[in-house]
Amino acid sequence: MADTLTITDNRTGRQYEVPINYGTYEDYGASSPAIDLRKIKGSEEDFGLLSYDPAYMNTASCKSAVTFIDGDRGILRYRGYPIEQLAEESSYLEVAYLTLFGELPTESELAGWTYEILHHTFVHENVKKLMDGFHHDAHPMGMFVSTVAALSTFYPEAREVHDADVRLKQIHRLIAKVPTIAAFAYRHSIGLPYIYPDNELSFTGNFLNMMFRISEPAYDPDPVLERALDLLFILHVDHEQNCSASVMRGIGSSHADPYVSVAGAAAALYGPLHGGANEQVLRMLNEIRTVDRVPEYVERAKKGEFRLMGFGHRVYKNYDPRARILKSMASEVLEVTGRSPLLDLAMELERIALEDEYFVERNLYPNVDFYSGIIYKAMGFPVDMFPVLFAIPRTAGWLAQWLEMLQDPEQKIARPRQVYVGKDERDYQVIEKRGV
Ligand code: CMC
Repeated sequence: MADTLTITDNRTGRQYEVPINYGTYEDYGASSPAIDLRKIKGSEEDFGLLSYDPAYMNTASCKSAVTFIDGDRGILRYRGYPIEQLAEESSYLEVAYLTLFGELPTESELAGWTYEILHHTFVHENVKKLMDGFHHDAHPMGMFVSTVAALSTFYPEAREVHDADVRLKQIHRLIAKVPTIAAFAYRHSIGLPYIYPDNELSFTGNFLNMMFRISEPAYDPDPVLERALDLLFILHVDHEQNCSASVMRGIGSSHADPYVSVAGAAAALYGPLHGGANEQVLRMLNEIRTVDRVPEYVERAKKGEFRLMGFGHRVYKNYDPRARILKSMASEVLEVTGRSPLLDLAMELERIALEDEYFVERNLYPNVDFYSGIIYKAMGFPVDMFPVLFAIPRTAGWLAQWLEMLQDPEQKIARPRQVYVGKDERDYQVIEKRGV
């Protein structure tokens, strides 16, 4: 196979040869450096060709070894390991380690890593005071984003982003403290006292403790729910160059510290087209209310009146493998928490949509958010907390992307170009001459 591309510029008749690069798989991800297009000029003074790609539909912004997705075949792997195997065999903290450092930890590495994370869960008392300042009905995601950004002021050394030891310390802190901040945001919103971390519990057991403990002297998490949450966290760790990961890399590329970078990424996640979708799924199901109204809503979605939340994906044009795992887990959780009519509604919606030509033609399948919201709801999490629950494990993925970006010699400060379509140069007019 020839490893170059010959481009003929029909304006000048000149030919250019540009290299074709491959990733791990030759049939997936062949690319040409876009900067080579700049050589293609209509005339000597010409700036050269730019590739125009709104929303980065076909632009690779980095080389990455973290996550592999084949959207057509519904494949997701972290560091080469299929998500189904990790979901079955691993734990969130182990997967976070794998994602960040590239290999599964040995027994002693995992013990050390777990110890570090479980011993950085407390936040400074002033963080608590800062959170007290939010209005009683503040959205927990707004509180989460702001508080994570504020950590930057508590750990000023974090700006030493080229020091590997400093970086590792902030990674421990961030992964450990995001559940505490998330739980405090929730407790604040319902006016309950904050519960301090219990480092004797597992990562997810402690999170459930900080969320839901009332007056019990020690919290005893339900093992099915503890495992279900751990599984949800595994599935949400990373998803390669999505909107929030790109923001993480974008902010990090200016060498800002990881706290403000994670806060920015979390802000991107908040939107209803990204991590806010699970919240919207629940709102949509509550609006549909009964199974007999499903066809009417499907028709409305087809007319473009609204989007079926939890359906469709920029990359997956097949069933999202995370949704498949969650669909079967939903039944297990509901055995503990009690059957939910929302699950019946969701399954009917999925059945009708998957048979409908509109959805089939456009390859619109359920995505991870379709079932995660139902499970979170059954576990007692309020809808407002859903994007925060997404942000907790995704923090590990954002940090993995950030580490990779900082250590990649080909990366620089992110700075896309634009195609200017505004006015040509013109002279300033004094106000009296501008007419009515
Ligand atoms: N319901 C109805 N129609 C849809 C939907 C939907 N959920 N999603 C896409 N379409 C239609 C869209 O109207 C368009 O139709 P047409 O070709 O006739 O104009 C076609 O499908 C292609 O849509 P698109 O907007 O060009 O696709 P995209 O790749 O830009 O959008 C998406 C991807 C996820 C933003 C979109 O599918 C969507 O808005 N889904 C609902 C929100 C959602 O569930 N988001 C969570 C994504 S998964 C979590 C994550 O990884 O962040």
